[in-house]
Amino acid sequence: MKSKNEWRQDGEYVALVSDLLEQPAVQKLANYTQHHHSNRLQHSIAVSYDSYRLAKRLNLDYQATARAGLLHDLFYYDWRTTKFDLGTHAFIHPRVALRNAEKITSLSNKEKDIILKHMFGATVAVPRYWESLIVSLVDDYEAEQEFFGPVRARLRKRRERVKATRIS
Ligand SMILES: [Fe+2]
Ligand SMILES: [Fe+2]
Repeated sequence: MKSKNEWRQDGEYVALVSDLLEQPAVQKLANYTQHHHSNRLQHSIAVSYDSYRLAKRLNLDYQATARAGLLHDLFYYDWRTTKFDLGTHAFIHPRVALRNAEKITSLSNKEKDIILKHMFGATVAVPRYWESLIVSLVDDYEAEQEFFGPVRARLRKRRERVKATRIS
């Protein structure tokens, strides 16, 4: 996503996920830090929206991608402080997210697979659908952006300041 709020301008996307976004269970994700510089709701929307656009471009099931992408991290603990090791967290949280998601909407088999397999690479569960693979790849990409994006921006600014002082 080019900006945090880009998805709001996309009426078709908003119509697909608005019933989920209204749910307190989804809004609650804003209370959890995800990758140091983002909260879990921002992260979930970014994964959902970018996956949706990719799925649309590839003529895949973008509806399922948008909805399950939004719910892929529907869990409520801080993964950095909970006592799980990283491997356990990677295995557990997709299952917790699926259970929570089923409480607020009905899910197709594809949507369930998208949520369950989004840690493909860290866990051995192989995605059964292209849409699941897309969400898992976009999830990795967003995590990297959310973690390093602000650091990169700070470095860029610092470099510009150094350059400016050299010139003057
Ligand atoms: Fe996750
Ligand atoms: Fe995620």
